Amino acid sequence: MEQRIYEQDFKDSINDPERFWMDQAAQIQWFQKPKQALAKDEHGFYHWFKGGKLNTSYLALDYHIENGRGDDIALIYDSPVTQSVEKYSYLQLRDRVSRLAGGMQRLGVEKGDTVIIYMPMIPEAVVSMLACARLGAIHSVVFGGFAPHELAIRIDDAKPKLIITATSGIEVDRIIPYKPMVDEAIQKATHKPEQVIVYNRKLGAVRPDGENDIDYATLMKIADPVRWTEVDATDPLYILYTSGTTGKPKGIIRDNGGHAVAMQYSMKHIYGLHPREVFWAASDVGWVVGHSYIVYAPLIYGCTTVLFEGKPVRTPDASTFWRVISDHDVKVMFTAPTAIRAIKKEDPEGELIKQFDMSGLRYLFLAGERCDVSTLHWAEDQLNVPVIDHWWQTETGWPIVANMMGFETHFEVKPGSATKPVCGYNVQILREDGTQANRGEEGYVAVKLPLPPGTLPNLWGDAERFVKGYLQKFEGYYFSGDGGYIDEEGYVFITGRVDDIINVAGYRLSTAEMEEVVAKHPDVAECCVVGIEDDLKGQIPMAIAVLKAGSAIEHFQLQTEVVADVRKEIGPVASLKKVLVAERLPKTRSGKILRKIIRAIADGKEFNVPSTIDDPEILTEIQTLFQDQMVGIYEKKVL
Ligand code: COA
Ligand code: AMP
Repeated sequence: MEQRIYEQDFKDSINDPERFWMDQAAQIQWFQKPKQALAKDEHGFYHWFKGGKLNTSYLALDYHIENGRGDDIALIYDSPVTQSVEKYSYLQLRDRVSRLAGGMQRLGVEKGDTVIIYMPMIPEAVVSMLACARLGAIHSVVFGGFAPHELAIRIDDAKPKLIITATSGIEVDRIIPYKPMVDEAIQKATHKPEQVIVYNRKLGAVRPDGENDIDYATLMKIADPVRWTEVDATDPLYILYTSGTTGKPKGIIRDNGGHAVAMQYSMKHIYGLHPREVFWAASDVGWVVGHSYIVYAPLIYGCTTVLFEGKPVRTPDASTFWRVISDHDVKVMFTAPTAIRAIKKEDPEGELIKQFDMSGLRYLFLAGERCDVSTLHWAEDQLNVPVIDHWWQTETGWPIVANMMGFETHFEVKPGSATKPVCGYNVQILREDGTQANRGEEGYVAVKLPLPPGTLPNLWGDAERFVKGYLQKFEGYYFSGDGGYIDEEGYVFITGRVDDIINVAGYRLSTAEMEEVVAKHPDVAECCVVGIEDDLKGQIPMAIAVLKAGSAIEHFQLQTEVVADVRKEIGPVASLKKVLVAERLPKTRSGKILRKIIRAIADGKEFNVPSTIDDPEILTEIQTLFQDQMVGIYEKKVL
């Protein structure tokens, strides 16, 4: 265990970030070491380790093989939905990755090309990501719960040379055909990828063969394995789209050099792991947690990673997580609070936990959404290990605030707080006018620039949006989009988004995007979508629609149609199930919908009526509306 203390390292990382991170950069294997830590580009954006040369797939695989660890297990695929477990050594994984990279090269993929990956949680998804990294191609993984329309938006933005997909995914007890969704997305998109590589899972899903389809297995048979391609530290490794406050998702760029250094650093210092240990992040490769902590960090650091194809419940029951921990001797686990809530609901007394030997588990890390106190305590009581809430975002790629378990001493957990800023992140709470908030005073959570390595250097193809969305609000700071406060002891509390992004079961979604879909309904004159509290998923979206004059549509009919539209356009993961019909929406005199107040009314919380409100009477109407139409949810919260 690291003998250094957090306070000293944190100070060093803030006072002299270049020196601090050059020291950390020495922990990974470069083909050419960077001479410089930080550089600025023509936009004034920061880049780490310019001039350094490396390859992320080499670091994740070949490096360990060169060090005699070829037979160690790199990846455990545990799939309750197919009732199978497969283990891949570093050598086996490297052979698959280098062969697929060879196949992609045959198809014309070169360094700097983009490739979209739309796959379920199967080893081939990890192989595809690493094969892109091997070639210096830039992957963009799209979560399988997104509909063809969303995939098409990403195709048009990333302009991939090819797409890699599978015939199907499995959602608890149903097969989701992926390939037809890819076909539909390509049809909708303006940009046309040259080819689609299809991994046939042989689960019986319909598999229409297009003339540009390439069978994954056949390609692997004919391809020659290839070596890694050297890339610059500042070259993009991947683009990951995440929800913004408009209908168009933002392409977060991750570089190769800063990312590798941050991944290595975080495994040791935040998660407190040793190489060779088993680490399990129960997320999906379509999200940032999957990128960083299923694929890249554990492999770069030389751990064994678990790729779990299932859910915390129903696959087959609420004991699945504990079985995986026990079967594979997981030392550190990472999941979202919603997963724990789902388990707690099924097994409140933790009876199922007692059936498994989980003595190897050291810590449970939670992130993705606010961790409520009862979930934290339940997990602590049941598992008897430290439960660590930590805060981060797709943009940063690794934790901003955490209890860093790699240091000799840790902080006492304060429920509701993700603890202290991670080394490298100068977290500040700012007021609207940019001045520093006092201790305990709630404000905007911002991070003083430069951000540490591994964080986003820019947005894909949209530097202007990068400035507008993150850098403009507070000069010299990165604005996170979250609100929060720091208490007298320096603990950071994140209170929630201050924009129109919501977190549904730990999935980040944009209400603006859903509003666009609802507004398209022929009977809807105007609408808004807000995130309301939900016992299981943390938040769920709810739409409020005002009907066009003369519309005779029944409420249930509108709800059914809108729910279906959102499912079709955004995907089932949006979880929009409720649509209310209002006479009018509360607005400011300038016409801005007062979403925050609607949210407060829905959650049964106190709110202040702003002086800019156009007609305060509407609030009473909205309250009545909730009482009438939200029977169930509203009753529980308010009545
Ligand atoms: N492909 C296709 N459909 C998908 C999908 C995928 N990869 N992932 C989810 N969906 C679908 C689900 O089948 C569901 O469809 P339905 O409305 O027809 O039932 C819908 O999207 C919502 O999915 P989900 O949020 O997973 O809800 P659920 O009710 O099936 O499960 C939980 C609830 C709490 C168990 C589940 O949300 C969960 O495991 N959450 C943890 C998520 C997580 O790890 N997030 C972390 C990111 S760090
Ligand atoms: P994503 O980019 O999908 O990882 O979502 C990032 C957002 O999720 C953050 O901006 C927060 O709003 C929320 N979030 C993530 N982790 C936490 C946490 N530990 N506590 C509170 N909110 C969190």
